[in-house]
Amino acid sequence: MDPSSIDVDTVRLRPWMDKDLDELSKIYQDSEVVRFLMLPTAWGDEQRAGYIQRTHDAWEAGNPRWAIADPRTDLLLGGIGVTMMVPGEASVMYFVAAQARGHGIATTACREAARFAFEKLGVERLTWEAVVGNHYSRLVALKVGFEIEGVARKGANQRGVRRDQWRGSLFPSELREDNDLPPNFERIRRQASFFTRKPQEVSAGISGLTLRPLADPNNLGTVPSIRRSKAQREFDHGTAVNYCLYLNGEIIDVTLGLWIDQRDNAIAEIKLYGELDDNQGHIYSSAVERLIDFAFDELLLERVEWVGNPKDSQVLKTLEAARFETEGLLANRLHLGGSQRGAAQVLSRTRP
Ligand SMILES: CC(C)(COP(=O)(O)OP(=O)(O)OC[C@H]1O[C@@H](n2cnc3c(N)ncnc32)[C@H](O)[C@@H]1OP(=O)(O)O)[C@@H](O)C(=O)NCCC(=O)NCCS
Repeated sequence: MDPSSIDVDTVRLRPWMDKDLDELSKIYQDSEVVRFLMLPTAWGDEQRAGYIQRTHDAWEAGNPRWAIADPRTDLLLGGIGVTMMVPGEASVMYFVAAQARGHGIATTACREAARFAFEKLGVERLTWEAVVGNHYSRLVALKVGFEIEGVARKGANQRGVRRDQWRGSLFPSELREDNDLPPNFERIRRQASFFTRKPQEVSAGISGLTLRPLADPNNLGTVPSIRRSKAQREFDHGTAVNYCLYLNGEIIDVTLGLWIDQRDNAIAEIKLYGELDDNQGHIYSSAVERLIDFAFDELLLERVEWVGNPKDSQVLKTLEAARFETEGLLANRLHLGGSQRGAAQVLSRTRP
């Protein structure tokens, strides 16, 4: 297949040229590119010298490799490639130079590359993969219409290290145009932006009370390392955020967290772990209240629920003090160990 170009208003996809190589060398040194791409880190003279030829070879083999350029200046903004995996199925990969990010370049380039793959390459199913935690790449994929299928555990081999990998797919009828955002995109974007930032400490209503994220590696606390690495993993996946409580710099042996419902990201479940001390009830409820405000404001949640053992009287007292409402019992909802099951109590707070 001969190399070809695609021109739209904001980007130009064109074959690679020698003049792109200096900028490409800079892009390959960018920390986000190193963090998220599978590339070999070595980008020496040898790789550079053969790069343009390799992109031509890829085209010849039916695998388009475009430079993404500014349509006004023709300067390099990034790159995108489509690789046939098996007949009818191809995978897309893209990157954008740090200074050009956040202006819709990857989204437009990916949309046009997908259209090309469907219309010119006979692709029936286009796949997208990204290292878990690459929320911006995921947002690009979602805006183009990909459905995220899930996580391939340690599914990527990144320079010899196995990493969890998000995988998604797109069929021709699902391709989204510029003004056609996926449902709930505002919430998806808000949550992605939260889980992209370094986890932050939150201060609660009582003076000296803080919620410190378990996913923060500097928060050593007293929580066993296995729970801390689980919390870190859940944070990277964007599925949960966990905190331990500190009062005037001293750790309180209670952790609380929010687990976002993976089928409906407007809902989260709150969980409290640890021995709750009767004398400190006001501290726990203040921390819960703060977490709920945070969930509504920062994660744009509509509902936070607790589903637990009706005999857990201290947790129930804490939640009631934090203005949760009792909704009722769910039969056989709790696993009580062995083959025993029991009813679960449901409490919730909804966005005012
Ligand atoms: C992922 C990447 C290609 C995105 O490129 P981009 O041109 O910035 O992407 P877009 O501008 O099209 O962004 C799509 C969405 O992501 C979000 N987003 C992207 N960059 C953002 C930023 N810096 N801050 C906040 N949100 C951002 C926005 O929600 C945006 O949609 P919106 O503008 O409608 O809100 C780029 O960050 C990159 O090159 N990263 C390193 C390499 C990489 O990860 N490649 C993907 C491998 S699978």
